[in-house]
Amino acid sequence: MVHHVKRQFVFFGGKGGTGKTTCAAAYAYALSRLGIKTLVVSTDPAHSLADAFNRPIGLDVIPVAENLWGIEIDAEEEAKKYMKAIQDKMLHIVSAVIVEEIKRQIEIAYMSPGAEEAAIFDKFIELMESIGNPYDVIVFDTAPTGHTLRLITLPEILGIWIEHLIEKRANAMELMKVAAKYDKDLQEKIKEDPIIDTLQARRDKFALARKILTDKKNTAFYFVLNAEKLPIIETKRAIEILQKHDIGIGGVIVNKVIPEEAGPFFEKRRVDQEQYLKQIDEMFGGFGVARIPLLDSDIKGIEQLSEIAPLILKLDEM
Ligand SMILES: Nc1ncnc2c1ncn2[C@@H]1O[C@H](COP(=O)(O)OP(=O)(O)O)[C@@H](O)[C@H]1O
Ligand SMILES: [Mg+2]
Repeated sequence: MVHHVKRQFVFFGGKGGTGKTTCAAAYAYALSRLGIKTLVVSTDPAHSLADAFNRPIGLDVIPVAENLWGIEIDAEEEAKKYMKAIQDKMLHIVSAVIVEEIKRQIEIAYMSPGAEEAAIFDKFIELMESIGNPYDVIVFDTAPTGHTLRLITLPEILGIWIEHLIEKRANAMELMKVAAKYDKDLQEKIKEDPIIDTLQARRDKFALARKILTDKKNTAFYFVLNAEKLPIIETKRAIEILQKHDIGIGGVIVNKVIPEEAGPFFEKRRVDQEQYLKQIDEMFGGFGVARIPLLDSDIKGIEQLSEIAPLILKLDEM
């Protein structure tokens, strides 16, 4: 029997090394075991999905287990593909002036810092569009917090930028129509405008992404952190930013919690953690907090992932 799908899009974020990939992989695996067709996508340049599942995962979607698929997106590769696609489209453009303008804008948006996030973002949208066919749920294992926040807030920024381009393009076309009044050739040329079509298609995509990201019923962001001082502050900030952008928070996962039975060697650390755990409960309790114990070895492969998976799944019931 197929279990009820709580959310279609689930993001895991947090600092590097906290256990984002492990939690994303465990969660995705748990869903797949419930009969939910799940795709887990890594967008962190420091890919470790393959490590978590203990099997190779690459640039194309591959099956990992029954009802489970995985993919690791290569940002640089996506950025290159993206630029190439745009440039190919440019060949059809009529006005040289506007070509330069658009080129410049594209470079600003895609070649500046953030270029790779933008390219990944395109891939995001492509994958998001595949929801329901065949995937019931897509789990994103994201890059460390800063990158991800920028990525997630992109649709808003790029939406405004593209609106501006469309306006410019429309004005240019108006001028061209006037110029073409006595020029049959030019009239023919500007009958259709591939650029405005492309821009409008992109605008629609960004709007769709924004709609998906802010749909709290179907999309949520999970934060993974360890019980330490700085990550708590960082998580608080990140949550505030997401809330400002109207993105839902699914819960907070405290990973690598030292268990009581860890023994005297860990005792001091354990006691320190207790204080932070309390703080985490106070600050984030409203979102739901899951605790995952520090295991005695790295978490590799499906068997070990299943050990921690129920702890994360519980968040969906909170
Ligand atoms: N609860 C845990 N107990 C023991 N090792 C863990 C635990 N969670 C994660 N690890 C290990 O810590 C390392 C970092 O985890 P990972 O999920 O790759 O972090 P991130 O994706 O946030 O960089 C990995 O080697 C992983 O196996
Ligand atoms: Mg990772």
